Amino acid sequence: MGTLCSSAETPDATAADFRLLFYKVFARKEARIYFNEKTTNMKTETLGTIARKLVAPGKGILAADESSGTIEKRLKSINVPSNEENRRMYREILFTTKGAGEFISGVILFDETIRQKTRDGRSFVEVLEQQGIVPGIKVDKGAKAMANFPGEKITEGLDGLRERLTEYRKLGARFAKWRAVITIGEGIPTRTCIDSNAEALARYAALCQEADLVPIVEPEVLMDGTHTIERYFEVTQQTLESVFHALYEHRVVLEGMLLKPNMVLSGKDCPQQASVEEVAEATVRCLKRVVPAAVPGIVFLSGGQSDQQATEHLNAMNRLNQVPWQLSFSFGRALQAPVLKAWKGDPARVADAQQAFHHRGSGEHRLLACRSRQLAETG
Ligand code: 13P
Repeated sequence: MGTLCSSAETPDATAADFRLLFYKVFARKEARIYFNEKTTNMKTETLGTIARKLVAPGKGILAADESSGTIEKRLKSINVPSNEENRRMYREILFTTKGAGEFISGVILFDETIRQKTRDGRSFVEVLEQQGIVPGIKVDKGAKAMANFPGEKITEGLDGLRERLTEYRKLGARFAKWRAVITIGEGIPTRTCIDSNAEALARYAALCQEADLVPIVEPEVLMDGTHTIERYFEVTQQTLESVFHALYEHRVVLEGMLLKPNMVLSGKDCPQQASVEEVAEATVRCLKRVVPAAVPGIVFLSGGQSDQQATEHLNAMNRLNQVPWQLSFSFGRALQAPVLKAWKGDPARVADAQQAFHHRGSGEHRLLACRSRQLAETG
């Protein structure tokens, strides 16, 4: 009441107060909204640029982010003990391969690897940048048994993620990866497992974009098992639907992310194996049902396919010529198998190993680049 009285008595002051109030409540709020939109747009633009660079025509991503347990398995397969120096040496072979930047757009590193250096003292991040390759980082803490859901997994790593992302960004990473694992089997996957993993993927992706890192969203439905291609299709579709719903709920900017899915195939132990054309058709049909066109690219994992199978399937999908996204690879095993085989831990075979990597990568590059040229010509 007191305020009303004094306002009536001093009309000028009232108008000024009102103007001030208006400014405080509306104008500043407007300004804040405008500012936020501007910053968000700027960030989205940068994220979009990196995402598009990662799926540049003819190039794909090398997944070299095997955790300590997984790299141990890979090195053991060639009788090399998995100690820090051997892991470093192996990754140095990959990253210093001359011309790798012609077919590799980005490399996903592991926490240990992003901190390592070449023998001549250059950080791996620096070496990759010199090759024109974008450094990335795996940030999940692995898929662990899901409590109360026998046979199913949930990916951990959200606690403290915001701080870890800030550190990785400072170390030079420009994109990140989080892998969720969905298993097909008797009575699984459950809706709870799919949705919990989708929610974690979306929370991870939102945090990445906040930290100026492009999230690679990887919901992997495993190919292990006897399931048919139809069952694989159904579970992949359900999983992707749940993932994109969660991404939408968490306001993830689709233009600033990449999807890393499995291809839709027959389970590894299914007696009836689908042909290359069937796999390409089923995978593209499944993705088209669920993945918005705003996503700049889809980079497939190889998931245990041989290098030849993975390449044939990707090539056949690109031949279908029917999708709004760039289709490329983010292979681990399907790119590295020939390198490990050629190297065998022998320092005298480093050049052979690098040649094997170059041969494997440039073969993939030729197929993808040829496809891009044809697409450009046919408009
Ligand atoms: P694979 O291509 O060996 O499946 O590895 C890709 C990957 O990054 C899995 O997370």
